Amino acid sequence: MDALTRSAWTDASYKHALKMLHDRSGIIVGEHKMKSSERLLEGLRKEFGFVTIDDFLMALDKDRDHTGWPAFINSFTINHTAFFREPHHFEILAQHIEKLRTNCAIWCASCSTGEEPYSIAMVLNEIVGEQAACPRIVATDIDSQAIKRAKAGVYSLDRLTGISEERLRRHFLKGNNQFEGMAKVKPALSARVEFSELNLMSFSWPKPAMFDVIFCRNTMIYFDHDTQVRLVASFARSMKPGGLLFIGHSETLASTTDQFTLLGQTVYKRNHR
Ligand SMILES: C[S@@+](CC[C@H](N)C(=O)[O-])C[C@H]1O[C@@H](n2cnc3c(N)ncnc32)[C@H](O)[C@@H]1O
Repeated sequence: MDALTRSAWTDASYKHALKMLHDRSGIIVGEHKMKSSERLLEGLRKEFGFVTIDDFLMALDKDRDHTGWPAFINSFTINHTAFFREPHHFEILAQHIEKLRTNCAIWCASCSTGEEPYSIAMVLNEIVGEQAACPRIVATDIDSQAIKRAKAGVYSLDRLTGISEERLRRHFLKGNNQFEGMAKVKPALSARVEFSELNLMSFSWPKPAMFDVIFCRNTMIYFDHDTQVRLVASFARSMKPGGLLFIGHSETLASTTDQFTLLGQTVYKRNHR
């Protein structure tokens, strides 16, 4: 890193970057990440051809449509996920789908690289059958790179350890030759999921009272309380009464809403009023 860029990275620059990130995405990054943030932003500075990181930040600040925005946001997202993460949720989901069958509209609101919505799709296909006509699972995330990987549906075999042998055979194609050690979701599974980029903070969401199920797991932990309150109110508007909201094991809706009732194991039911 040259002297010019190093001298440009100050406490004030860091606070500026974090405020821009928060205003745009809701994400809060801890104060201790100053050094790693500098490394990330230094890479972007070079990629987008600016002299200092501050110049890059100013360019983003001035133009909401600047091509550097997605890369800036992607640098700070944490995409950790897994197939059938928190497996008890998928048992509760299966019981709900059993009741609604092909009428079950599902939104996976922070789908990362696809493991979560494809897990949901496996459960759905196993209950209603691969040929059944039902609404596609809406799967969204702010991170453009994660969505690209999700759409590709290709995973290394060590990512598939949470999946039973039977499910692997039914829903995945194992690669060979240059794809040795990889597997791809079968067309019947990918056909069930519609991926797109969506910033939850834009609140330009699907129609009101549309969903029977929303998954938004391990994402609200990155937002402050006010943002969580707004988000949960919007989820409530997007759900049908009696619908289920799944959140992460370390998250809670306590003190954010009176529109949901806790069923247990971080699963909430949308109230009927
Ligand atoms: C830790 S991952 C959780 C993935 C998955 N839901 C799970 O539990 O395995 C958090 C995801 O939230 C996404 N995210 C963060 N802020 C977001 C926002 N404002 N809008 C949409 N997605 C967001 C990130 O890009 C990331 O993929």
